[in-house]
This record gives sequence, structure tokens and C-alpha cells, in this order.
Amino acid sequence: MAVQLDKPGPSPEGQLDLESLELQLLLEGIFRHYGFDFREYAPASLKRRVWRRVNQEKCESISGLLERVLHDPEVMERLLLDLSINVTSMFRDPTFYAALRERVAPVLHTYPFTRIWVAGCSTGEEVYSLAIVLREEGLYERSRIYATDINEAVLESAREGVFPRDKMREYTENYIRAGGERSFSEYYLAKYQGALFDRSLTENVVWAPHNLVQDRSFNTFNLILCRNVMIYFDRALQTRVHQLFYESLERLGILALGNKESIHFSGFEDAYEELDGHEKLYRKVR
Ligand SMILES: C[S@@+](CC[C@H](N)C(=O)[O-])C[C@H]1O[C@@H](n2cnc3c(N)ncnc32)[C@H](O)[C@@H]1O
Repeated sequence: MAVQLDKPGPSPEGQLDLESLELQLLLEGIFRHYGFDFREYAPASLKRRVWRRVNQEKCESISGLLERVLHDPEVMERLLLDLSINVTSMFRDPTFYAALRERVAPVLHTYPFTRIWVAGCSTGEEVYSLAIVLREEGLYERSRIYATDINEAVLESAREGVFPRDKMREYTENYIRAGGERSFSEYYLAKYQGALFDRSLTENVVWAPHNLVQDRSFNTFNLILCRNVMIYFDRALQTRVHQLFYESLERLGILALGNKESIHFSGFEDAYEELDGHEKLYRKVR
């Protein structure tokens, strides 16, 4: 007897359901086989990125990509780069760094030594920018920066400290808008297409892989920066990451989220007082 399969018709609703199911299977497969957990990332942005990889790998569907990913770690590596969204720049949102100088540096000056965590540091532009600010504020020598990311390939590139030379004009403008008063070119050596940043800026930096979804706290800090990372997470995951930051901050430690994120609806609003409402700088008070 022939079995009648209940296929969803070509209605947009049926198509959407299948797409979501395939996405879930892909994320489950990645998690079980490779241990990377993207299951609680915000789905709209995930779908866009997954489809880009589906097309670039010349697959027909998300399920087709799942098959490739499971059998070819190189496809997984390429997908990881798509999913982890590594866009960054030096002195990104310059007013954030100006606020660091004005509001955070005076607090750090009250400590003999500070531990700083930059979570989701990507290719390192944020860390080099922070190191420059700390140096100019007379704080670098007594700071240790832990710079972490889920993606080892971006950390490798961050360690090298070479950024595209054609970006230097934009970064110089950002640096000045961030309150920098030196000549920005003092900090790098231009060579061919690249600008190699001063090695002494990373003497006090520890680069390490860390996954905010799965890994635990590894120290306590006076300052945590996490900008443009949690926007890709769903609400439940954001709350878990806030728990991790709360546990990892010293009392009176500062959480720096940048203007795209917020502490609101995180469940931790009452644990912090606001230092800067626009740059989303918060101080742990309880
Ligand atoms: C858009 S970049 C932001 C870089 C930098 N913080 C900035 O604001 O310019 C987001 C970074 O978060 C990292 N990331 C994504 N999910 C992560 C996770 N679960 N744990 C740690 N880092 C993660 C990505 O690999 C990427 O490098």
C-alpha cells in the first residue's frame, strides 16, 4: 500500500518551517560534532549567514550544507568565520574610548594593578586601541588585558598585530575623535600593504580562546569590555552571559558594553550603577 506523505505545500509558511527545522538540525550537528554551540544565537542573523555559506559552498539547501560540514572540517572552519561575525575596527565608536579616558581611567588609577577582560575581541583592533588609551593614561604598565574570542583564527591574526594600511586614515580620525593627542603613526610601522603595530602594546596582553556560551569564568576583573557580541545572542543567552560577567567582576568593577547593547532586561539592572548612559558603562555595586 502506498504511504501518503504529508508534505507541506509551497506556501510561504511551509517553506519557513522547513528552513527553521533545517537550521536547527545544522546547529545541533555543529554542536554535537564540533562542540560549537550556536543554538541560542538570534535566528534572523544566523539564517542570513548560513544561506551565504550554502551558496558559496554551492549546496542546494541548509541540509546540504549540514552534510558538507559534518564530513569536511574545512567547511566548518569557513562557516565558523561566517557565524562568528568578526567585523571590527580601531577606535570603533570613538566616543566610547573618550568615555574610557574620562570615566574609567580615574577609577583604574585608584588600583595598584588592574585586570581587564576584552570578551569577543575579534582580530584585535579593540585591544590595540584599549592598550593605546591605557598607555596614554599612564595605566598600561600596571594592567593585564585578557583578550578572548571563540574563534582561534581571529586570535591568530590579532597576535600578529598587522592591520590594513589603507585603514590608517580612518583609524587616525577615530583616534583623534577618541581624545588621542599624539601622532597616531607613532604606534605603527607601515610596510607594504600592512601597518605593524608596536609590539610593546601587547606585552601585557594574554590572547586566549574562550566561548561565552560554554566556558566558565577564568579570573576576576576590574574592567570587562564586551561590545558588539551579545547583539547576536537571544535573550536567554544574553542573561547567562550577564551572569558570567557579574561573577567575573570584582566589586566596584566596571562593565563596558558600548552603545549597541544594554543592561536592561538582563536581570542584572539592580547590580550596577550607571557611569555613562550612552556608552553603557556600568559599575558593579552589589
Ligand atoms: C562583531 S565582532 C566584535 C569585535 C569587537 N568587540 C568590536 O566591538 O569591534 C564579534 C566577535 O564576537 C565573537 N564571538 C561570537 N560568539 C562568541 C562566543 N560565543 N564567545 C566568544 N566570542 C564570540 C566573534 O568571533 C567576533 O570576533
